[in-house]
Amino acid sequence: MYFSEEIIAEVQQRNDIVDVISQYVHLQKKGSNYTCCCPFHNEKTPSFSVNQARQMYKCFGCGEGGSVITFLQKYENYTFPEAIKYLAERAGIELPEDTNNAANKARDNRRARLLEVNKEAAKYYYYLLRSDKGKTGMDYLERRKLSEETRNKFGLGYASSYGNDLIAYLKSKGFKDDEIKDSGLAGFSEQKGLNSKFWNRVMFPIQDSNHRVIGFGGRVMGDGEPKYLNSPETEIFDKSRNLYGLNFARTARKNNMILCEGYMDVIALHQAGFNQAVASLGTAFTSGQANLLRRYTKDVLLAYDSDGAGTKAALRAIQILREAGLASKVINMKPYKDPDEFIKNLGAEEYQKRIDEAENSFLFQVRITESSFDMKDPDGRTRFYKEIAKLLSEFTDEIERENYLTAVANQYGVPRDSLREQVSKSAMQGEVKVIQRPQSAMGGAKAKAEDSKRKPQQLLLTWLAEEPQLYSKIKQYISAEDFTDELYQPVAKRFLEDLEKGNANPAVLISLLEDPEEQSKLSELFTTRLEEIHTKEERQKAFHDILVAVKTNSFEYYSSRAGTDINAINQVIAGKKALEELAKTHIFLD
Ligand code: UTP
Ligand code: MN
Repeated sequence: MYFSEEIIAEVQQRNDIVDVISQYVHLQKKGSNYTCCCPFHNEKTPSFSVNQARQMYKCFGCGEGGSVITFLQKYENYTFPEAIKYLAERAGIELPEDTNNAANKARDNRRARLLEVNKEAAKYYYYLLRSDKGKTGMDYLERRKLSEETRNKFGLGYASSYGNDLIAYLKSKGFKDDEIKDSGLAGFSEQKGLNSKFWNRVMFPIQDSNHRVIGFGGRVMGDGEPKYLNSPETEIFDKSRNLYGLNFARTARKNNMILCEGYMDVIALHQAGFNQAVASLGTAFTSGQANLLRRYTKDVLLAYDSDGAGTKAALRAIQILREAGLASKVINMKPYKDPDEFIKNLGAEEYQKRIDEAENSFLFQVRITESSFDMKDPDGRTRFYKEIAKLLSEFTDEIERENYLTAVANQYGVPRDSLREQVSKSAMQGEVKVIQRPQSAMGGAKAKAEDSKRKPQQLLLTWLAEEPQLYSKIKQYISAEDFTDELYQPVAKRFLEDLEKGNANPAVLISLLEDPEEQSKLSELFTTRLEEIHTKEERQKAFHDILVAVKTNSFEYYSSRAGTDINAINQVIAGKKALEELAKTHIFLD
């Protein structure tokens, strides 16, 4: 979607920044500015300031600043076009039709309709819960100690046990059969037509982070299967990219998020004041959800059930969070099963204590791992250490890895060096298969062992000299250390630095060398012609092969030196990761 500068300017002019921001936070006039506590970080004294004359905002605490548009992008999580559309609508500005985009438009319309169906259904269930027909539902929620305020905040409702009343209601609102069917709220059969999915259940509307209803979870009242029935995935309901409670939690202004397993856990936590709680949607936690959380926090507290299944799910979530670059801790809720039970029995203050005492997730992993080995048996202990070494080898950050290594070594009284040695061994084993050195790219000749190591390094440098623009596509995988050949390494170091700066010139490199013999070797390097490779596919494959060959050699080179040498261990761990990624990656040459 393209917006002209005029449109962007008009949208800004017609939406005063003070008015718009006031919709979200309470601004107070101070001199010529307006201030409040910053909505983007946690603070007690206001350092967020809005300048009406300049139509800008700035937080002197966290540094966040910008225009009315960036405010909405940040606060509402809107994309740029979404922010423009919102503001245009707010000011009654008609945006020019994007005629090229008929398909997009049709899709937007359809999504809008499905959102409407869900919204109307939520209204209907909400009304029903509070009517005479909803008494069983209301009694149930009261038994579960949900206050009126909580019931309303989460928009809880009730699906009746009589007939297809919801469908009649939706039809009366003008929705067509296929809109109702595609919203996931009803099934369809030739004989019976539309048939409600949810019967006699307490209804939990699932909202996206902008408070739009995108699906439902429905709980049986009492025992019955399934305990929770959830809307299926639809065009508007992607279970792996939304989180229950995030619409509230994202503005909680706490410095962490609490991730739990169930809808009731989220609700119980919010009711007790922990308004930073979220849960996945009847499915396991995903990396998409981790990315979503990362927009709002760096620290996640896990509040998964204390039973075996909960522990297993927590271990999985820890791994996913770590891969997304989030730190996590585990809240111990024993002797209770989940946050809901815990708070009902011991209250919010005790829960806060458990939050404060939450266990570092790596140490949690270690503790759980320990419990599955017989630590009295020397053999069991050995296998336990190997398992821990494997976990440690997944940290690519050296400081982090060393800190954990020290913590474990101290806790279990093992010498750091032997644990470190085990870590490098386990990094070397791993899933990396030693990749066959591709002959195609290396001139076909049966290269000698030494050559088979040098040749790919030479070819990669040559190729980069010819096509320096390729550097940006591979720089995440490659570093000067990968050029293990003693002549190539210093050259590669300088050459990669130059490529990074965008001014690589092999000729200059050569003239930097003093030794004429080295000069000639190097000019040979940079003038080596790549084998005639004709098709684009072949070139692509050859380039990939060369890269993999360089990385494989580097991996083997450092593996044989790793032992307790930290630099080598780093190379091995990073190399393994790069090879894994390369195995899945296609590098396009243009
Ligand atoms: P739990 O069984 O732990 O439910 O499932 P809960 O949160 O403690 O709920 P209450 O207190 O018994 O009412 C956790 C989550 O797993 C999903 C739901 O999202 C639920 O909130 N789930 C569970 C289902 O989708 N279907 C089921 O049948 C059970
Ligand atoms: Mn539970």
